[in-house]
Amino acid sequence: MTVEKTLSIIKPDAVADKIAGKIIDMIENADLNIVKMKKMHFDTDLAQRFYDVHKERPFYNDLVDFMVSGPVVVMELEGENAIANYRNIMGATNPSEASPESIRGKYASSIDKNCVHGSDATDTAAYELGLIFG
Ligand code: CMP
Repeated sequence: MTVEKTLSIIKPDAVADKIAGKIIDMIENADLNIVKMKKMHFDTDLAQRFYDVHKERPFYNDLVDFMVSGPVVVMELEGENAIANYRNIMGATNPSEASPESIRGKYASSIDKNCVHGSDATDTAAYELGLIFG
């Protein structure tokens, strides 16, 4: 078992729907420790840099617009196998394919408005945590 850090974002749709608390509850019940947490509003430059890996994808501009559309809650999470553990409780990127017990299965409305983001590997976690928390 490896203790890892990962970045969680509760996206603008979930913050606007006032379900951040329910999502944080699921995170804490999954044995993930919240090391840092803040509410913030992405600007376009940060959203573009955050999702730079997707810049050639057709959904990139819509994704950036969505991420700047309202406040988000960002967290640094820590725990054993935190990256895989958090991705497991988030569920599949497309909520129609997500387990009904997962965050996206319970709360997300579409692949674009899918409530949460989580880092997918140790190198992306380090990049994303650096961008958000410095
Ligand atoms: P996220 O985990 O934040 O990573 C990139 C986001 O792009 C993803 O969640 C989705 O919200 C969004 N997205 C939109 N269309 C797609 C797609 N076809 N494949 C992957 N991600 C997509």
